[in-house]
Amino acid sequence: MAGIILTGCNGKMGRAVTNGVAETDGCEIIAGIDVFTEERYGYPVFSSPALISKEITDKADAIIDFSNPSALAGLLEYAVKNSIPAVICTTGLNDSQINLIKTASEKIPVFFSANMSIGVNLVCELAKKAAAVLGDAYDIEIIEIHHNQKIDAPSGTALMIADAINDELENSYKYEYNRQSKREKRTKKEIGIHAVRGGTITGEHQVMFAGHDEIITISHSARSKELFATGAINAAKFICSKPAGLYNMSDMLK
Ligand SMILES: NC(=O)c1ccc[n+]([C@@H]2O[C@H](COP(=O)([O-])OP(=O)(O)OC[C@H]3O[C@@H](n4cnc5c(N)ncnc54)[C@H](O)[C@@H]3O)[C@@H](O)[C@H]2O)c1
Repeated sequence: MAGIILTGCNGKMGRAVTNGVAETDGCEIIAGIDVFTEERYGYPVFSSPALISKEITDKADAIIDFSNPSALAGLLEYAVKNSIPAVICTTGLNDSQINLIKTASEKIPVFFSANMSIGVNLVCELAKKAAAVLGDAYDIEIIEIHHNQKIDAPSGTALMIADAINDELENSYKYEYNRQSKREKRTKKEIGIHAVRGGTITGEHQVMFAGHDEIITISHSARSKELFATGAINAAKFICSKPAGLYNMSDMLK
């Protein structure tokens, strides 16, 4: 793999991926896409994938996207039209946007994960195991903590962990986001999901299994954004040589 197109290049993750690619042998960012088209890092920046020239498109081996859900449809259209594998890391996508990803993956390789760190993916596996062992004798609550600039809540990662647990429990649990609006006890078949925002916190996730007289907590703490950038670059390398399909961190860890 050599040429990467980076969506959201002028954002916080865009900067981390730009730095990560600069330190990766044989890799280069050949174009950025961002609503802010300032060229900060020595590669051209376009406000839309439709404006990228054929010359650049022909050199693209993968797209990495850390931007905003509003960019997704145009980006996937461009990726499919030009047969470029895509790594989608943007969170806060709705069901129809997730369906767009699934449809695109019938034509091109698409890697999609709300969290690009190996550690969080291990947390999912550990939480599934805990849920299988503990059953509904333990109440499950997920707490996620992020910096004060994060737009979506709860985090895509909190939902990813909840979905992993719920899959293990035959999708019999409901998600409870807001206890404030009702005055009633929690039920057994629910996963509470809570978002905390403040300062510059990169990303904390705790999964709590609260039982009678004991609490088991599985937690993950991201200490820098480089962690996610490295995961995205590795994912781009991974899908470059793969056939069309939908891939995630579990595929890369096999
Ligand atoms: N999957 C993961 O591991 C992971 C890790 C960190 C962040 N994220 C997600 O990545 C996204 C970006 O995070 P960030 O911290 O860099 O945010 P950010 O706000 O710092 O950067 C987003 C960038 O995208 C640009 N942008 C917005 N709308 C756009 C559009 N329609 N087309 C092109 N560019 C557009 C913005 O101008 C900005 O430069 C968020 O959804 C965040 O939750 C995912």
